[in-house]
Amino acid sequence: MNFDENIDRRGTHCSKWDMMEPLYGLSSDDALPMWVADMDFRPPAAVQQALERMLRHGIYGYFGDEAAYREAICWWMANRHGWQLDPATIFTTHGLVNGTALCVDTWTEPGDVVALMTPVYHAFARVVRGGGREVRELPLVQQDGRYRMDFDSWDERMTGREKMLILCSPHNPGGRVWTLEELRGVADFAARHNLILVSDEIHHDLVFPGQRHIPMTIAAPEAAERLVMMTASTKTFNIAGAHIGNVIISDEKLRNAFARRHQALGISPNSFGMHMVTAAYSPEGAEWVDDLVRYLDGNRKAFDAGIAAIPGLRSMPLEATYLAWVDGSGAGLSSEEFITRVEKEARIATNHGQTFGLGGDGFLRFNFACSRAMIDEAVSRLQAAFSDLQ
Ligand SMILES: Cc1ncc(COP(=O)(O)O)c(C=O)c1O
Repeated sequence: MNFDENIDRRGTHCSKWDMMEPLYGLSSDDALPMWVADMDFRPPAAVQQALERMLRHGIYGYFGDEAAYREAICWWMANRHGWQLDPATIFTTHGLVNGTALCVDTWTEPGDVVALMTPVYHAFARVVRGGGREVRELPLVQQDGRYRMDFDSWDERMTGREKMLILCSPHNPGGRVWTLEELRGVADFAARHNLILVSDEIHHDLVFPGQRHIPMTIAAPEAAERLVMMTASTKTFNIAGAHIGNVIISDEKLRNAFARRHQALGISPNSFGMHMVTAAYSPEGAEWVDDLVRYLDGNRKAFDAGIAAIPGLRSMPLEATYLAWVDGSGAGLSSEEFITRVEKEARIATNHGQTFGLGGDGFLRFNFACSRAMIDEAVSRLQAAFSDLQ
């Protein structure tokens, strides 16, 4: 796989490139899209071949018999994450934002509160609030430049109205791979406050060398009666348009409750996604992911070195994900000025920190899952835009 290839995605109805003009006022003729979390890479050949088989056959009816699909998921989790799971505990949803919304709908009522460790992936708060629930923000603290959990202060913030906690593991946007101790702390916190614990592990395959992701179900098996696991192949293999994800629930009571909502809302699988995921979760897919992570690691290093050369800017050291979380506050610029320089001078579209909740203001999130040439271009544009600070 040649990750260096620049593939022109413009004019393909892709959000990342084609929505830059309407959302940021930046033309894709010369601006760089480093915002929404998908990659500028083609998926493994096995995925393309699965789609080609469908195209050649040419009939696109309802999907049937999920056995191979479920087996592929179980194979992947066992081989890549040391997690043995029962195929009967898997629900297929239309992605994990949909999975999150279904969890909120199943275990909370309008007016209830859902706790989030902020700053965190913005869609969590969007679906919680969209469903008429409130968000309790539990701010992560920075220690040695990385996010840490602060259970004592979080205990004080809780009011008794919270019904659910959504964990992002690995963490978007801070790039943390939570340790066993931290994960066990989360499970204890959820037990102390009697919360359903939803663990979104969509970034679990995109972990840099030297780090090891631990699935929450392995870290805290005693939390099973309150635990809902969410995983997906879509970030890993860059197939987010397939809109497919897994909600995995080992506890029977929780599983029955979720099954009722899943059925009530008429959710059934999209055959394209099913074929793509089955093909991706394979030895060939695994080899591709290993290559991908090596390439992303190179991008991460090149991008971080470029940012480190700009006085006052700092990229949080990432342990996972392809999303650099850059703090501009040390440059003495307001968040508006920081955004203006990046968007108007460097002509780069990023995600704005304040959309990630408490603690996000002053940061910008840069997606570096693109060719190395684009990273080099982004770095030189940023260095020029902040040259007065050099
Ligand atoms: C933590 C997290 N969950 C979910 C999603 C999106 O999931 P989906 O595309 O399956 O709805 C993202 C996308 O960036 C994410 O970072």
